[in-house]
Amino acid sequence: MPVSMEELVRLCKARGFVFPSAEIYGGFRSTYDYGPLGVLMARNVKEAWWRSMVQMRREVVGLDAAILSSPKIWEASGHLKNFTDPLVDCRSCKQRWRADQLPTTEDGKLKCINCASTDITEARPFNLMFKTFAGPVEDDGAVAYLRPETAQGHFVNFANVLQTEHLRPPFGTAQIGKSFRNEITPGNFVFRTREFEQMELEYFVPPADSPRWFEYWCKERFEWYLRFGIPREMLRLRHHRAEELSHYSAGTADVEFDFPWGWGELEGIANRTDFDLKAHAEASGQVLEYFDQTTGERYVPHVIEPAAGVARTMMAFLIAAYTTDEVAGEARTVLRLHPRIAPYQVAVLPLSKKDTLLPLSEEVLALLQPVAMCDYDVTRAIGRRYRRQDEIGTPLCVTVDFESLEDKAVTVRDRDTTAQERVPIDRLVEVVQSRLAW
Ligand code: GAP
Repeated sequence: MPVSMEELVRLCKARGFVFPSAEIYGGFRSTYDYGPLGVLMARNVKEAWWRSMVQMRREVVGLDAAILSSPKIWEASGHLKNFTDPLVDCRSCKQRWRADQLPTTEDGKLKCINCASTDITEARPFNLMFKTFAGPVEDDGAVAYLRPETAQGHFVNFANVLQTEHLRPPFGTAQIGKSFRNEITPGNFVFRTREFEQMELEYFVPPADSPRWFEYWCKERFEWYLRFGIPREMLRLRHHRAEELSHYSAGTADVEFDFPWGWGELEGIANRTDFDLKAHAEASGQVLEYFDQTTGERYVPHVIEPAAGVARTMMAFLIAAYTTDEVAGEARTVLRLHPRIAPYQVAVLPLSKKDTLLPLSEEVLALLQPVAMCDYDVTRAIGRRYRRQDEIGTPLCVTVDFESLEDKAVTVRDRDTTAQERVPIDRLVEVVQSRLAW
């Protein structure tokens, strides 16, 4: 049975994936903190993305641009004018809504989701960017914005990267980092928050090749989610209708996931054409073109952009991995996470807390720590410790027992099958590495 949102939120809190922020003060406006397991999992999601987008390619390089950014960037990019949502108020219950998220009545009136009133104000554009002041003086000259996407950092550094890396299209810049949007209606746990992490690639291509590269990235990104364990039936690629397109896009497709409340976007793949480079070239007076020295050709590359969210990807992996079954007549919850995504790859479990077992257990832990993220747990009965590791998705448990002191071997238990295998300690690293299919 698919996991409900209530159960997902409970598990995330109980096991230390995600905590409501400032909980001791009653929480703070849809913000969340990542706990010990959440940071491990988020790092693994980002590492899996980076590996496939940067490490495994020779034409993609990394970037880490500033979050606090000049208004000139957002003026040129069109965000100051266009990055808005239609805001409406319900005159009866005073709730604020995004007009496009409210249902309409048969006679075409917007209806409040909270109180069903149709006494709703006219929609007015609400800019989603967080505005602040850089420096001690709060005047117009000190205005700065928290970036609402990492993308513009790629475009304003286009000439810098070209100069230092000697790349020729097609090439890309990859960036992972926080973005901020003053969402009118954040919600569905970490699905829509005001502070979130993005993983964005800007892929610069010869203009005539952009349709081909758009198709390429749609396929590539869809398969990435399958590779890390999301079943095909829980994923779909949805092309945007013309009226849905962002102000910079000539075509966008979303990779969507079947969340407990319905289909929701994990990632958008957009054909941004030459919109951004041209806009920044015009506003800054700089040349933002590619010059091919062999052919003498000069052009502004078009950009294909796969842009994903870390929290949404984590949520999708958790939901897809969540299963319940029975072991020896006892119910258990298992997160069947991909080994690269699971917070811990291995748990080292001394069978007993007795002093005699601990030195060898710590030796085993020290052997495995360089090759895998390890948990080490000496509390409670072994069965309960296995349940905990199953519930947090640890693929392998390594148990050190009293026999280990004699035969210098340990038991390796598989999360999914619960099968156990006796492995000599001097072969443990090799066996663990092959079982995790690194
Ligand atoms: N540069 C293009 C861009 O930012 P987007 O579709 O607005 O495109 C990309 O954002 C991804 O960032 C989304 O698919 C989603 O995963 C994530 N994202 C966007 N807004 C978010 C929010 N308020 N909370 C959590 N994740 C968000």
